[in-house]
Amino acid sequence: MEIEKPFKTIIEPFRIKMVEPLNKLSLSERRVALEKAFYNGFNLAADNIILDFLTDSGTSAMSTSQWAKIMEGDESYAGSRSFYEFEEVVKDLTGHRFIFPTHQGRAAERILFSIMAGKGKIIPNNTHFDTTRANVEFTGAEAVDLITSEAKIPSSDFPFKGNMDVTALEKLIETHGPDQIPLVMITVTNNSAGGQPVSLQNIKEVSAVCKKYKIPLFIDACRFAENAYFIKKREKGQEHRSVEDIAKEIFRLADGTTMSAKKDAFVNIGGFLTLNDEKLSWEMRNLGILTEGYPTYGGLAGRDLGAMAQGLREILNEDYLEYRIASVQYFGKKLQAEGIPIVNPVGGHAVFIDAKAMLPHLQPHQYPAQCLNCEFYIQGGIRGVEIGSLMFGKYKDNQLIPAPMELVRLAIPRRVYTQAHIDYAVEVAVRVKEQCHNMKGLQILEESPYLRHFTAKLWPYDQVYRQI
Ligand code: F0G
Repeated sequence: MEIEKPFKTIIEPFRIKMVEPLNKLSLSERRVALEKAFYNGFNLAADNIILDFLTDSGTSAMSTSQWAKIMEGDESYAGSRSFYEFEEVVKDLTGHRFIFPTHQGRAAERILFSIMAGKGKIIPNNTHFDTTRANVEFTGAEAVDLITSEAKIPSSDFPFKGNMDVTALEKLIETHGPDQIPLVMITVTNNSAGGQPVSLQNIKEVSAVCKKYKIPLFIDACRFAENAYFIKKREKGQEHRSVEDIAKEIFRLADGTTMSAKKDAFVNIGGFLTLNDEKLSWEMRNLGILTEGYPTYGGLAGRDLGAMAQGLREILNEDYLEYRIASVQYFGKKLQAEGIPIVNPVGGHAVFIDAKAMLPHLQPHQYPAQCLNCEFYIQGGIRGVEIGSLMFGKYKDNQLIPAPMELVRLAIPRRVYTQAHIDYAVEVAVRVKEQCHNMKGLQILEESPYLRHFTAKLWPYDQVYRQI
């Protein structure tokens, strides 16, 4: 067989069939829009944004085959053809026995933790995502993050900074006893710790600890394919395996999954819960019927299930994964070349800018990452998300306990933006950097007790708020 020399340029492995125009507000219009949004990107109208890097969740461009599934969707209330197609794909991928669609990831989390967590229980995770933590805490349980020590150093190049600290896990189980720990969770990739992957070796070790103490292991699988691709590229002995094979092994090391299909299944809405335990699945099915709907649609239309099944097939395409990871790396490397401090190595779905390093003059109660995030909007109409003390800060005796890191996440939607968009974003970042010394931070005017970052109203720290 003729061997082809690889090209240096990794191209988008698709062509564009439908386009959506971008709105461009002027600099002064953006300043007004941000003020009206109380310095919280979640309050901005999407039409006022040029590049939307708020999230890679539910923002993918679907393929022609997914749109075909939308047309073919079977909308029967019970037993729809689209459900059986979806169930077959998920069973093949996970090897798990019971599969429940849900309207998104947090719905799966709510069902899981309502049944398994509760007052006095402890749920360990490498790092809980915000909705996962909130769903655990809402039941009265404690959510504990057991991230590997390398992850706490933004500049460290460790290839698997998403790993769980296995020694700390075993210590936690020994200290509290396995009865208090109804399940262990691993999030792949580890979103809140910088989109960093978890190694297969680490998942195996966690799985072995769980088996030893008879504690079920669940995978928060939102970005399982990106994680499996990193394993293939970075973990010794895995380079000759297919990503599909690695992904299947990850799921088979666990007893269940929660999944937001809005990430690695390319759909705009959808998720699922899987598990092996029959008794638990019975309880979860019944709770699911209460809020998600009949188990063969779970809060979704039949067409959504078809699109999700097709998306799960497409995500394991290695040409796609090569392009996906390369394009996020390209963004990160260009930012670094401009002297912008980012979490190293670059994660799978996003670039995380280190706001503590960029704004050393601001204290956590001045929300440096949120402030930096706002400046991206002012300078270039870019919306990212704060992953720092606004998202994860807690109060104790009215004092803010800051998050360990102050990050701005610029998440890249799948199959949506081109290289020119990314080059523009780098130029914006350079302008933001030039403004750093002028940034005074933000204060909170109003906040809610749970997930406050979604709805909080903020205002410049050095200005007195006057009704607008
Ligand atoms: N787990 C992880 C690791 C996530 O990143 C998310 C969502 C969820 C669970 C919840 O899924 O949104 O479908 O209910 N992350 C989005 C983000 C919102 O922007 O990272 P959901």
